[in-house]
Amino acid sequence: MLDGFLTESILGKGIDAGLLEVAVHDLRAWTTDKHRTADDRPFGGGAGMVLKPEPVFAAIEQLQTPGCRRIYLTPDGVPLSPALAQDLSRQQHIIFLSGHYEGIDQRIRDHLIDQEISIGDYVLTNGTLAAAVVIDALGRFIPGVLGEEKSLTHESFTGKLLDFPQYTRPAEFRGMTVPKVLLSGDHGKIEKWRHARQVEKTQQVRPDLLKQTT
Ligand code: ADE
Repeated sequence: MLDGFLTESILGKGIDAGLLEVAVHDLRAWTTDKHRTADDRPFGGGAGMVLKPEPVFAAIEQLQTPGCRRIYLTPDGVPLSPALAQDLSRQQHIIFLSGHYEGIDQRIRDHLIDQEISIGDYVLTNGTLAAAVVIDALGRFIPGVLGEEKSLTHESFTGKLLDFPQYTRPAEFRGMTVPKVLLSGDHGKIEKWRHARQVEKTQQVRPDLLKQTT
């Protein structure tokens, strides 16, 4: 599932350059029965299956290193934010636990997991996709992963405003033109225009960002 993401991407280039390392593990490797069972029916009844504690404890106890952050991806976790992504980018070692199951045994969450993260208010069928999102978001904060440091400072969310529109050549395409100010060479005017577009866009689609004080 993660092959293309880890090879054919900006993150993949970062991995090739040795800026970060990603390893994928199959929990079934830590099961002990012949069917390699990682889940079971919930105590108390109900639909769906629950990830068993034994393979998860065995896997994490084997893979963890001193001080490593053990994260569980779940829609009821704390929302991923740029600040959280940046914090994670400074960690030496992170273990992401992702469920393909209805749930996981609460003892894993209580005794093994350091942090629970959600990537948004929707439910995925597969936590691995959520882990990939978190890895991608944190990877961008690792120095050198993005070619230009500048691309980090100018974009959406760093200043709580959404991004301004970008244009490139040709200046006219099928009758659609580029705003004149961008061709003017007047950098003061361009900055002002871009800021106005940012405020406008933010008001339109994310007015909540303008109300935030932090
Ligand atoms: N697993 C399923 N849905 C998820 C979400 N929204 N965030 C993180 N992990 C998940």
